[in-house]
Amino acid sequence: MRKHLSLVAFTAGLLLAVGYADQTKNRVTIPANKTNPTDGRQMYNSYCAPCHGVDGRGRGPAAQALKSPPVDLTALARNNRGKYPDSHVMAVLQFGTEISAHGSEQMPVWGPIFSRMNVANSQEKDLRMSNLSRYLQSMQVK
Ligand code: HEC
Repeated sequence: MRKHLSLVAFTAGLLLAVGYADQTKNRVTIPANKTNPTDGRQMYNSYCAPCHGVDGRGRGPAAQALKSPPVDLTALARNNRGKYPDSHVMAVLQFGTEISAHGSEQMPVWGPIFSRMNVANSQEKDLRMSNLSRYLQSMQVK
């Protein structure tokens, strides 16, 4: 079964890359394939790679259409004095980025999306976020 996520107002290039537009509502629907909540790589490739790239370096097919570039996710540890910032990543997934709080809105806020994937099991969201974060950790360059 396929679920569809509605994410508000992305740019046209992104629509071509990862979804299609419902122009009457100015919304993009990203077909969110049902992924395994324990499989960080599968979730990353479905939900993150369109912007951040399969290799995490920020050059996904949709990246050029974004106003602010997706960050290089392989450098999170290097940019944090060598320590992978797990709690920061969890907060970004749950609440969105600080930039988006100031109006960018290019990075989807994943917590509510993951919640809607399985409303009957509220722990699945946490499982998804922690397994995604662990997968990001495995991508870090030294
Ligand atoms: C629609 C494009 C898009 C998608 C899809 C996307 N991101 Fe992002 N992401 C961005 C952009 C752009 C930024 C830069 C900050 C901003 O503009 O909000 C960002 C920033 C981030 C940051 C913040 C890094 C920091 O140093 O604060 C993290 C972590 C992150 N993304 C992880 C993810 C993960 C994990 C996924 C998949 C679940 C994902 N992103 C999906 C576009 C995207």
